[in-house]
Amino acid sequence: MKKTSNLAIIILAAGKGTRMKSNLPKVMHQIVGRPMIGWLIESCESLNPDKIIVVTAPDMDDVAAEILPHQIAIQKNQLGTGDAVKPALEYLKDFKGRVLILLGDEPFIDLEVTKDMINYDGIAAMAVSLDNPYGLGRMILDKEGFLDYIIEEKDCTDKQRDIKLGNAGNYCVPADKIHQWVNQIQNDNAQKEYYLTDLPKMALKDKVKTKIFEAKTKYGWGINTRAQLATHEKHAQNILRQKAMAQGVTMIDPDTVTLSWDTEFGQDIIIEPHVFIGPWTSIEDNVTIHSFCHLEGAIIEEGAEIGPYARIRPKSVIGQGASIGNFIEVNRSTIKAGAKAKHVSYLGDATIGEGSNIGAGTIIANYDGFFKHQTDIGKNVFVGSNSTIISPVKIGDGAIVAAGSNITKDITENAMAIGRSRQENHQGWATQYRYVKKEQKKREDED
Ligand code: UD1
Ligand code: MG
Repeated sequence: MKKTSNLAIIILAAGKGTRMKSNLPKVMHQIVGRPMIGWLIESCESLNPDKIIVVTAPDMDDVAAEILPHQIAIQKNQLGTGDAVKPALEYLKDFKGRVLILLGDEPFIDLEVTKDMINYDGIAAMAVSLDNPYGLGRMILDKEGFLDYIIEEKDCTDKQRDIKLGNAGNYCVPADKIHQWVNQIQNDNAQKEYYLTDLPKMALKDKVKTKIFEAKTKYGWGINTRAQLATHEKHAQNILRQKAMAQGVTMIDPDTVTLSWDTEFGQDIIIEPHVFIGPWTSIEDNVTIHSFCHLEGAIIEEGAEIGPYARIRPKSVIGQGASIGNFIEVNRSTIKAGAKAKHVSYLGDATIGEGSNIGAGTIIANYDGFFKHQTDIGKNVFVGSNSTIISPVKIGDGAIVAAGSNITKDITENAMAIGRSRQENHQGWATQYRYVKKEQKKREDED
């Protein structure tokens, strides 16, 4: 990959994320099925930097795994954003060029503005104009429009709080100055934290002014709370839906369809309202997904029909033209071309051959309480309603299972299996039964 000359990116992700009220590191919370740090890393990679260094805390192995193959730097104690940069700078001692510092809790950045910041010679700070810049530091400009200083919301006077220009928290700094400036940041504030927002002040001591670069507001700024996470999710879902529709997917009520970042679509797909599609799902041409379906980790092949009210779980393949109807759960199973299961079934750890028909209420009993077992159903098999197939079992091509059977043994090709107790009819027993019961009831009522 071609590298942009002399660009290093530091992403700060070691914060405790206290406001999220979570045991999960903040940057691991997901947006459209992907940890938020993943989104930011992808944007950073598109800038072709020499290095991406992510600052995490000592106990954040999950973050370290997520950002591979990029560099991790550990901030031992979370003493603030100004302190967080220091461990990353250890890896940039001899680095010449520009250092872009980004916040891990801002998954979507305005790349155009970021590029302008990288191409600027001096120190650059990203700003954002919001009607309500709630929670953001405010940018105080000098008469020439350069940054005078940044003040955190908590430290603002009422007048400062009215300022609409918020601090996006991202900076681009010349590498030869950054070590000196970051090391000069003090923690003499109410929070006793090292604020990276003091960086422009340190630059100013050196008579270097900070230029402001204003980003578009649609990217949303900073995720500190679950409510802000939800706002970002909404924004990202909307982008994914628009992309899917542009590609040839009809959505009757797009706002009610939930997608994942990696959902793959073909053309002429119809998705009815209230459908959830989790990660690792691919949907081919001419598929219809009726309302209230939940799909994840599944491949839905051309022309298949799913739902309403179906659940397709990971490692499942629904073959060409296959039909999965209402209240069907498919789990780690392959339903081959043209096969049908239309009503109320559990199909787990199974292969169902081409053209087979699984009757209403069929249950594949794949789990014995300790192990999962496999069921292999051949082509053009007919399984009658309300059958229980107790795995492991193999059913040959063309076999028929009589309705209401319990199947525990393999069935050979074209055989008919009847696995149910025999029915007996007794003439007149119903009349006799009713007489006995009525007499009994009369006696009880008299007592
Ligand atoms: C920060 C800015 C604020 C800006 C806002 C934009 C500071 C002091 N404030 O506030 O001006 O408007 O972002 O979203 O910079 N982190 C560490 N180590 C730490 C502390 C934080 O790595 O010791 C990381 C966090 O994981 C997070 C990022 O830095 O990804 C920002 O920290 P956060 O606490 O969210 O700062 P804000 O209060 O949002
Ligand atoms: Mg934040």
